[in-house]
Amino acid sequence: MRLSTPNLQLNEQGKLRHFLTLEGLKQHHLTEILDVAESFINPLTGDISKVPSLHGKTIMNLFFEPSTRTLTTFEIAEKRLSADVVNLNIETSSTKKGETLLDTLWNLEAMLVDMFVVRHSESGAAHFIAKHVAPHVHVVNAGDGQHAHPTQAMLDMFTIRKHKGDIFDLKVAIIGDIQHSRVVRSQIQALSILEAREIRVIGPKTLMPSHPEALGVHVYDHIEEGLDGVDVIINVRLQSERMKSALLPSEKEFFNLYGLTKERLSYAKPDAIVMHPGPVNRGVEIDSEVADGHQSVILEQVTYGIAVRMAVMSIIIDNAKQLNAEKQIPKKVTEEARS
Ligand code: CP
Repeated sequence: MRLSTPNLQLNEQGKLRHFLTLEGLKQHHLTEILDVAESFINPLTGDISKVPSLHGKTIMNLFFEPSTRTLTTFEIAEKRLSADVVNLNIETSSTKKGETLLDTLWNLEAMLVDMFVVRHSESGAAHFIAKHVAPHVHVVNAGDGQHAHPTQAMLDMFTIRKHKGDIFDLKVAIIGDIQHSRVVRSQIQALSILEAREIRVIGPKTLMPSHPEALGVHVYDHIEEGLDGVDVIINVRLQSERMKSALLPSEKEFFNLYGLTKERLSYAKPDAIVMHPGPVNRGVEIDSEVADGHQSVILEQVTYGIAVRMAVMSIIIDNAKQLNAEKQIPKKVTEEARS
């Protein structure tokens, strides 16, 4: 799935204005995020600093789909950056009375917001919003349909770098529902941009995109073969909410063929790390013994999500400051904005 105008997210200097997708970004964009994230973490204690970078800025979190990790770590990150934070409860908002997405946005914009963090079930929702906001307003994609989840992929890269150093020498295997996962799509883009040595995807044909090789990955339908000698294993859940029809006989059958068990883990390198973006479905894509085992870094991923999201938001605001973008108070919606 390719959405048009990925460079909508870059300003005239080629720097991040929004963060919508990893598609079209260069290695230096990603390494800047990883390096800035690192600067927020105390190397001795692992604590994440509170800094004044976004003091006086207002950030609104608009989550049209459920979330535990992304919403909460964005909120913590925004507060650590000293921003004012609003979580709009979509269920009790006037969208339930028929107010359109654009009218909702323009009204929120009139409250002098500086940044929207958006999760939506429609692929392309974050791009759509970014196209319609005022020039001083920034948009961060917190997951749109099957399309992208770029901050998740970046926190995954950060976790890999913490454990393994440079990514270019690594063999990474991703197991599960490759077809419907926005996380996998963004992970593959991140790993490609960072020039990982080998990216493998493992899963049944029914859960593979139509031309996986075009993504620059090696496809395996036998898990043991796919895990052989890898440095990093990323497990993802079945995205049942995005499947239009039953693509598997049963969850039990999936676990029998593709579940990550201790025995299957032994095919990877002995020091391989096990990752999962969450939520984890124990006994479906991963055995508890592995999810909670000594090679698992699943909870570290969550913690690093705070620093990585701080990095993305502070880089965007710093880039805008360099351009001296003036805040514009919207008085009325123009014809151009309506189109
Ligand atoms: N990984 C992830 O996006 O988790 P949440 O859906 O809980 O935010």
